[in-house]
Amino acid sequence: MSILKVENLTKRYPGVVALDQVSFEIEPGEIRGLIGENGAGKSTIIKSIAGAISFDEGKLIIDGREYTSIAPTEAIKQGISVIYQEFNLIPSMTVAENIFLGERIGSKFKVDFKEMNRKAREIFDRFGVEIDTTAPVGSLSTAQMQLVEIAKAISKDVKVLFMDEPSASLSVSETKVMFEIVRALKKDGLAIVYVSHRLEELFEICDSVTVMRDGHTIETRKIEDLDRHTLIKLMVGRELNETYPERIPVSDEVVLELKNVYGNGDVGIDLKLHRGEILGLGGLVGCGRTELAKMIYGAVPIERGEMLLFGEPVRLSSPADAIEKGIGLIPEDRKTEGVFIDFPIDWNVVVQCLRKISKNSVVDTGKMDEISKRYIGEMKIATPSPHQLVKNLSGGNQQKVVVAKVLATHTKVIIFDEPTRGIDVGAKQEIYRLMNDLTKQGISILMISSDMEELLGMSDRIVVLNEGAIAGEIEKAEFSQIAVMELASSN
Ligand SMILES: Nc1ncnc2c1ncn2[C@@H]1O[C@H](COP(=O)(O)OP(=O)(O)OP(=O)(O)O)[C@@H](O)[C@H]1O
Ligand SMILES: [Mg+2]
Repeated sequence: MSILKVENLTKRYPGVVALDQVSFEIEPGEIRGLIGENGAGKSTIIKSIAGAISFDEGKLIIDGREYTSIAPTEAIKQGISVIYQEFNLIPSMTVAENIFLGERIGSKFKVDFKEMNRKAREIFDRFGVEIDTTAPVGSLSTAQMQLVEIAKAISKDVKVLFMDEPSASLSVSETKVMFEIVRALKKDGLAIVYVSHRLEELFEICDSVTVMRDGHTIETRKIEDLDRHTLIKLMVGRELNETYPERIPVSDEVVLELKNVYGNGDVGIDLKLHRGEILGLGGLVGCGRTELAKMIYGAVPIERGEMLLFGEPVRLSSPADAIEKGIGLIPEDRKTEGVFIDFPIDWNVVVQCLRKISKNSVVDTGKMDEISKRYIGEMKIATPSPHQLVKNLSGGNQQKVVVAKVLATHTKVIIFDEPTRGIDVGAKQEIYRLMNDLTKQGISILMISSDMEELLGMSDRIVVLNEGAIAGEIEKAEFSQIAVMELASSN
């Protein structure tokens, strides 16, 4: 008997049918992969089942009970729990407080913090996770925050657990830890719905997969009956070749140079980026790549050493200064640093070049329209209109808006920090093609990537960082996963 059955669920937004007669069911102890391109409707189906948004048609059957609409409290009562794509933690509160937010532990008048911590410990101990439950969440690493989200989701009586891209900001080894937890929950009889764009994960963890496309459920199949190629074809509805663009030889003109620049390591960094080059920055999570990117982008001052742009020493005082000089950054965390999600797409695309399209402090909306429409078209941003608010776009399409924003400033050097995180396979190909085209126009790219295939596939040269310093450089002919890993983990 299925624990959850979804029947013909439909959800409309102005100009978009986000869900169109979606149907599937899931059994206790089953791990179901839910996949589809950016904007296919994965997050929308989860929010509808959890009562976070209302749906227009169809019904839910949870453990035999029928619902044509459901309130969030009722969904929780019926054992529906969600780990959302966006973190929902309060940084200033402790781990334990976040886990039991909204629940009363202790008497009517006094919260029993001791008991709360004990209960939080219990959850982590069960999975052998070391974490200080009294630490503020803001002091944790991304991976630890994800573990807190999981603990929060399973602190209640759960029957169906939805995980919306939980691995997006985790490294390979951190994902393994999470998988152990997921397997333990499966043993307890939970039904788990697992959303990911990393298709190889599905083969590792799932029993079955439901594919969505354009708001429809296309098919549900056992994992044994699927391979990567078939999965992609079902997802994008056509044949898709997963190939990296052919790179043309790079010029030897140096565009950006770092001389003995100190990051958070105790050795200076020397680095040269050539015109039209894609220089890959490899290394483990936390090895200092993002910090280095921030220095090049003027967000963190360079205190020791020197940076040269086209042979001239530059001292950047701020990111605005960097943009002015032709350096752009596509940040790792688009939600807090990349876009203004409460503002429309067109405004976000031109926000860094407002001065160029304004006269007497008045923005030329015709130009804004023209520029934003151009990028929406070029990058295939799925939206009914340029005036759509960014928060209403799917995760992958939000990422495209970030890229469009940087491109619109006519940069010479672009730092891509994890360029395809949370991006579907088809859109990934588009971003790779776009990066390749940019370099053909003479733009130089510094690419930070934890996706090994992407790092090897896209880079002309790879520099590996380790503890804030350069561990070594690898030329294209010597590229291999082992070469990168050896440098990344050497000490
Ligand atoms: N509040 C909203 N207003 C208008 N349109 C919305 C809203 N929320 C979602 N949509 C639209 O509904 C569709 C489905 O979006 P959804 O977020 O479910 O996609 P997804 O499959 O989760 O994609 P991703 O892999 O990028 O996270 C998209 O076209 C999106 O733009
Ligand atoms: Mg989503």
